[in-house]
Amino acid sequence: MTAAVPTVSDAEAAVILARCDELARHSSLTDGIERTYLSAEHAAVNYRVAGWMTAAGLTTWQDAAGNQCARLSGSTRGLPALMLGSHLDTVRAAGRYDGILGVLVAIAVAGRIAASGRPLPFALEIAAFGDEEGTRFGTTLLGSRAVAGTWLESWWDLRDAGGVSLREAFLAFGLDPAKVGDAARAPQELLGYLEAHIEQGPVLEEEGRALGVVTGIAGARRFLLTVTGSAGHSGTPWPRRRDALAGAAEGITTIERIARAEGLTATVGHLRVFPDAVNVIPGKVEFSLDLRAPDDADRDRGWTLIESALTDICGTRGLDLASTQVHEAAAVACSPRLRAAIATGIRSTEPTTAPADAARPDEGGSDSGPEAPADDAPRELPSIAGHDAMAIAAITDVGMLFVRCAGGISHHPDESVTAADVALAVDALEAAVRALAADYPAL
Ligand code: GLV
Ligand code: MN
Ligand code: MN
Repeated sequence: MTAAVPTVSDAEAAVILARCDELARHSSLTDGIERTYLSAEHAAVNYRVAGWMTAAGLTTWQDAAGNQCARLSGSTRGLPALMLGSHLDTVRAAGRYDGILGVLVAIAVAGRIAASGRPLPFALEIAAFGDEEGTRFGTTLLGSRAVAGTWLESWWDLRDAGGVSLREAFLAFGLDPAKVGDAARAPQELLGYLEAHIEQGPVLEEEGRALGVVTGIAGARRFLLTVTGSAGHSGTPWPRRRDALAGAAEGITTIERIARAEGLTATVGHLRVFPDAVNVIPGKVEFSLDLRAPDDADRDRGWTLIESALTDICGTRGLDLASTQVHEAAAVACSPRLRAAIATGIRSTEPTTAPADAARPDEGGSDSGPEAPADDAPRELPSIAGHDAMAIAAITDVGMLFVRCAGGISHHPDESVTAADVALAVDALEAAVRALAADYPAL
């Protein structure tokens, strides 16, 4: 048997995975990954990523909202740009690929184009957004909404768990809150936005496919719900108890029942109990609700049902209910022309004549599962997870390339991708960009 000969993509994939490992070390947790907006870790990864962007041949800058950006000029200066991007922040106890992989794949693609001697007829930009997850301030997509020009003045008073306001965090990061508008990009500056991202679901793996074309992104609403009863001694007799936690628990299982029945996705991931003592009836409970659906009307109808059910539960138990919406993002459809370009990109990575399991002979066998048949159209699938593309859709067309992740696991330290799939993602995204270039200026 002959030794495997690594291809350029395999070497690039190895670099990308090593970079993901390196960025994972920039964490505020010692026993896991957490990197939040405008933190010291955010500044450190911006610096590191800027170095990789520069080494790839791009001009770099950090924008007025702390996003790390880069640009590769097209065949002449001043051309509009196709933007590639994703995010560098993480959830608490995160994996190392959500968002990060998309930024690093984009840098690899830009590096290839810079080195190819075949400049594009448009500029290529990369945006490594500083906040997509909303981990620190509770409101998501802060980085990409600054770029989209949809920043809200009301956000300045958002506070993190330590009481630091967004305004104070801007100043501490060396940013001027009065200049956040400078991060906004005008629609005429952009030709579109492409984002590569791990699927965060099981579809591609179940079907034995490495890559997929995203059709659209589910709309989301997030709420903070507060149930108030009355605290008291744990020996208080049943008729006198107003237990906020028992009410919240019934409410949470009711949310699950409604969401299942209505075909919605609902998650309660945060809960605080006051005063949080074993021998005191909980007097107050605060919990979050993250509600999603591919169709905003379905999602909104679901919230109406949930709110009414929670009101009934609290009424029956003598509890008070308060709800505040902390986030809303409309569902977004990916643009047909960008979907077509991504499909072309994926097709370019598939074998044309060889049997599927001989597609990548250099691997000496496949560590990425069986591939789809060669004549199969690329898989199209929706995203339930939120993405920066949702925010950027306010100013330009968006398209997304999904990369298979093991077990569909995400927002968890076990997030995992294979080098072979990452190599295919670089090839496919480059081919998608080249397909758009071939059509330009009829974009
Ligand atoms: C981000 O990953 C989200 O879907 O909430
Ligand atoms: Mn995420
Ligand atoms: Mn993400």
